[in-house]
Amino acid sequence: MTDLSSDSTKIAGVVDVIRTKRDGGRLSDAQIDWTIAAYTRGEIADEQMSALAMAILLRGMDTAEIARWTAAMIASGERLDLSGVARPTVDKHSTGGVGDKITLPLTPLVAACGAAVPQLSGRGLGHTGGTLDKLESIPGWRADLTNARFVDQLRDVGAVICAAGDGLAPADRKLYALRDVTGTVEAIPLIASSIMSKKIAEGTGALVLDVKVGSGAFMASVADARQLARTMVDLGTAHGVRTVALLTDMSTPLGRAVGNAVEVTEAVEVLAGGGPADVVDLTLALAREMLAAAGLPDADPAAALRDGRAMDTWRAMIAAQGGNPHAPLPVAAETELVRADRDGYVAAVDARAIGVAAWRLGAGRARKEDPVSAAAGVILHRRPGEQVRAGDPLVELRADDPDRIADVLPALSGGFGPTDPVQLTDAPPAATELVVDRIA
Ligand code: URA
Repeated sequence: MTDLSSDSTKIAGVVDVIRTKRDGGRLSDAQIDWTIAAYTRGEIADEQMSALAMAILLRGMDTAEIARWTAAMIASGERLDLSGVARPTVDKHSTGGVGDKITLPLTPLVAACGAAVPQLSGRGLGHTGGTLDKLESIPGWRADLTNARFVDQLRDVGAVICAAGDGLAPADRKLYALRDVTGTVEAIPLIASSIMSKKIAEGTGALVLDVKVGSGAFMASVADARQLARTMVDLGTAHGVRTVALLTDMSTPLGRAVGNAVEVTEAVEVLAGGGPADVVDLTLALAREMLAAAGLPDADPAAALRDGRAMDTWRAMIAAQGGNPHAPLPVAAETELVRADRDGYVAAVDARAIGVAAWRLGAGRARKEDPVSAAAGVILHRRPGEQVRAGDPLVELRADDPDRIADVLPALSGGFGPTDPVQLTDAPPAATELVVDRIA
């Protein structure tokens, strides 16, 4: 156990902090500041922080506690200074979804319309993919930039997607890794403070949040997603960041491609003026919100997709980080098609099941240090609402290794009934809304 004796005169101790929250009390500002600072310095043991995270998950935190917790996490590290960037800065954060490649076309698109987009992204863990893993399938592309290079690229190209440096909200880095292995990820105060501490420390002037709701998201219910969105919008606003949230559906994967290189290919289709309708629609909806939040409400992102400006910025952004935007992407050695066993309509494609399948095919990782396959993934040949004939391909599995396909196949090819991952019906399903709500 960590020796806390040197701090015990200031605060009764971490055990008191844990007991306070365990018994449903509220943590004082001094307790929060001390806990985050001491944990960052390594003076609070992981088992103690795990107990506190579980107490927070079960008992919650009030608005003032969440605000103080977030401020303490920001103060645990450095804050980037983007004041040297002439254009207005605006970022987007998604709470994570299956096939969510929106950052890839959105970042250069919004930059092409006049804003600067500082996008610090992460790698995937579990069934949701990571933006950096996707971009790393582009030959030569590097995720790690120094703070100086990050700011230079933001000034020159207007668009950067890279890994957050170690100096940014280090308390969150430690705590998120701990939550991941202690069943404490799904606490709204902890998710909100984790996301917002990084975004506020990054120095962006405005922020648009894409809060996912549905089977493939952290938040399965609209009520929880709304509460998370409200909490994050209030935190951003309190720190002077113009913040807006869209609640968007994550019961079906976004687009047709789920994986790494396959999602880059789909993103490039969108930048070329094509791509699946839901990916285009969400990209444009988020771009309009970002441009309005950045003080550029008259910019026309649809025109920037059509006339090639967004594609030009994408190529410049990839090349600035060592990538070759024209290089062929890795292709999987093994593929397998799952076919419809009858005529009908696709009624549903379960986001979580497809995310788990892509992950098991090699596109995701089980532990932070695992490698990912650039080429593995899932292609949806039919999306909900589309018609099929018996024998038509529904889902394509891609992997580097045939054993992975053999492992995943039974889960997707067992049947197409109302409880299966891909559901077929005789009549077309009712259309669903992609944007469920907007919180400002
Ligand atoms: N993403 C984060 O950065 N933090 C969380 O807690 C959840 C998702």
